[in-house]
Amino acid sequence: MIASMNPFRYSEPVPVEDLINRDDETQKLLRRADESNNSRIVAPRRFGKTSLLRRVMHETRNVGWATVYVDFFGVLTLADISQRIERAYAEQLEGRLASWFAGARRMLRPTLRAGGGPLPGSVEVTLEAQAESPLLDRLALPRRLHERHGTRTLVIFDEFQDVLAATDRADAVIRSEIQHHGDAASYIFAGSHVGMMRELFANPRRAFYGQAAPVELPPLTAEDVAVYIAARFQRTERDIGMALDPLLALAQGHPQRTMLLAHTVWELVPKGESATEETWRAAYERAIHQVSDELRTTWTALSTSNRRVLTAIAENTTALYAAGRRHGGSRGGAVNTAIHGLRDRGEISEDTSTRSGYRLTDPLLAAWIVDGRAGT
Ligand SMILES: Nc1ncnc2c1ncn2[C@@H]1O[C@H](COP(=O)(O)OP(=O)(O)O)[C@@H](O)[C@H]1O
Ligand SMILES: [Mg+2]
Repeated sequence: MIASMNPFRYSEPVPVEDLINRDDETQKLLRRADESNNSRIVAPRRFGKTSLLRRVMHETRNVGWATVYVDFFGVLTLADISQRIERAYAEQLEGRLASWFAGARRMLRPTLRAGGGPLPGSVEVTLEAQAESPLLDRLALPRRLHERHGTRTLVIFDEFQDVLAATDRADAVIRSEIQHHGDAASYIFAGSHVGMMRELFANPRRAFYGQAAPVELPPLTAEDVAVYIAARFQRTERDIGMALDPLLALAQGHPQRTMLLAHTVWELVPKGESATEETWRAAYERAIHQVSDELRTTWTALSTSNRRVLTAIAENTTALYAAGRRHGGSRGGAVNTAIHGLRDRGEISEDTSTRSGYRLTDPLLAAWIVDGRAGT
């Protein structure tokens, strides 16, 4: 490691060798895949889903599986879904599997693209039906790969809830093919939208109901984080010193926030020196300043009742329903609605140690709210 380079990454999924722990989750996902069972990982944005999936892919490849990672973020049509899948195979298969795909690709029915923009309802319905066959062709690829080479495939569908933007029955179309994959392929579905993922996998009326067992992704433990940060400071000839305790207390194991704060403290510690309480305060100011646009955007997108509930949870001083009344909400109904909405979008998670029973997922948003939500 180069001593002059910041060892903390906070803006992209982390490489396998930089991952903190996640051993149990990795083993669980590998075991399920090996048994030809599917899994799902549901956790708020930036909790390390994609980073964990990279490690799982790495280990699956090492035992001879093909792995295909498809990110569905932002898809709007079935043709988008088809193209994401096709591109994943084109970019990620290697060696003889890549050669196989180059040939197989020519047999796929072309994906039809409507020229963008809204279409009359009837046209849209026809196009949608026509878009199903090309999608089914691409979904069938692991089955064909298995028939041809005996290779098993781990298929990862990340930000899976976004397929519902294409059509409400996208999950049914996908399931209709992949339910026949048996030993040919195992699937991991990941998603950041807690509410939509629950709808997809826990609603008995939906195609994937009961089809993928959940794997939890808890916050990182203070022990794991402390050891990791201290070691990286040491390797780059610095000492985390007095900044470690307040960092652990603020970040609360949120993976991306932990890395962002560690990165910021590191920037302020010259080589050969140790962080002080002063360093911590400066780093905290910098980190809040750096994310302030993002926090304001999040805040602005919330309704007033959501803001009130979020603030009551962040302040953790009064019970939630009392706070709802104090802020002019008459009954518990509005508070309940706000709680459900915030939980579905991953802004809050359950936490039995607080008065409200919840905490904000993002500790920096919580700190900013408690500090008065001023511009920085
Ligand atoms: N296990 C981990 N160890 C170290 N950093 C992590 C870990 N998981 C997540 N991170 C940090 O969080 C950031 C977001 O991770 P990512 O895997 O992209 O989350 P998600 O896919 O859930 O949005 C990464 O850039 C990294 O800084
Ligand atoms: Mg991700």
